[in-house]
Amino acid sequence: MKKKTYINRRQFIGLAGMVAAGMILPDISTAATLPLRKAIPKTAEKIPVIGMGTSGTFDAKGNAEMLARLQEVTQVFFDMGGGMIDSSPMYGSAEEVIGQLLPGVKGKTDLFAATKVWIEGRERGIEQMEISRQRWGIPRFDLIQIHNLVDWQTQLKTLKEMKAAGKIRYYGITTSHGRDHDELRQILQKNDFDFVQLTYNIGNREVESSLLSIAQEKGIAVIVNRPYKRGSLFRAVKGKPLPPWAGEIDCQSWGQYFLKFVISHPAVTCAIPATSKVKHMQDNMQAGRGQMPTAKQRIKMIEYFESLT
Ligand SMILES: NC(=O)c1ccc[n+]([C@@H]2O[C@H](COP(=O)([O-])OP(=O)(O)OC[C@H]3O[C@@H](n4cnc5c(N)ncnc54)[C@H](OP(=O)(O)O)[C@@H]3O)[C@@H](O)[C@H]2O)c1
Repeated sequence: MKKKTYINRRQFIGLAGMVAAGMILPDISTAATLPLRKAIPKTAEKIPVIGMGTSGTFDAKGNAEMLARLQEVTQVFFDMGGGMIDSSPMYGSAEEVIGQLLPGVKGKTDLFAATKVWIEGRERGIEQMEISRQRWGIPRFDLIQIHNLVDWQTQLKTLKEMKAAGKIRYYGITTSHGRDHDELRQILQKNDFDFVQLTYNIGNREVESSLLSIAQEKGIAVIVNRPYKRGSLFRAVKGKPLPPWAGEIDCQSWGQYFLKFVISHPAVTCAIPATSKVKHMQDNMQAGRGQMPTAKQRIKMIEYFESLT
């Protein structure tokens, strides 16, 4: 029989104080509190609503101190029910660093591996994707996305062939911070993609009017990049309190407020915030738990955010 561990009253008060002060977060990595998962429309396969971006944060080859910290960040990500990791050959050494850290993760790694192809030409595209696969050290990617529309007609043809041959499971296309939206709209309307990745956050909602609707109509899964507007959302609310009703949507931090806003849009499948800090990863993963805002509450969230900025 498992031995129970008791703590005395003073230890309890001390721990509760540390939790309240944000010094430690409660252990929420149990199955009972796994994060919300949403379905990929084309297959109904479910993935966790919070993934992990790696731009900048994982470009840490050769930096032993950063690598040790990122190992912990990755461990917490999987411990708290994470799965989707998004990278690109554009992000310096990030793919190599992922490949270096994955074998060091203890316990179950429910990996959904997503990268991008970011090059012109068929042969060069095929070569780049194979180099990425070797860098990650995995048998195949779950998802490969055409990065920022680069040579998309050529790469789409290759990705379709790779999917038909079972070399990848899904393909997609990406853009960010409002670039190329008109062209992307036309591409999505005329072609068949499993995923689209775009920028959406409470301070930049441009995609709501068209791209998110097209994705919903055509059954395309949506990955949201820059959910924190590259961190600038935190600077906008620095020193400002959460609204008194934040508890109604289980929000204990601005990070959770921003992420819950993004993932509660019905068209959004997951968001991929990037962080180099364990505490921020815990915060981000917590956003996938508890009550999600309703359509009415989402409007209140925008109004409150705009009243502060
Ligand atoms: N075209 C494309 O395909 C494209 C373009 C852009 C981005 N992306 C993808 O999307 C991912 C996310 O975008 P992003 O990295 O540009 O920006 P982001 O996720 O919106 O913001 C990242 C910033 O937020 C901070 N942060 C993270 N969690 C936090 C928390 N809980 N509390 C306070 N600060 C927090 C991070 O700093 P700390 O390290 O200090 O936590 C970092 O400075 C990228 O990593 C990449 O994978 C794709």
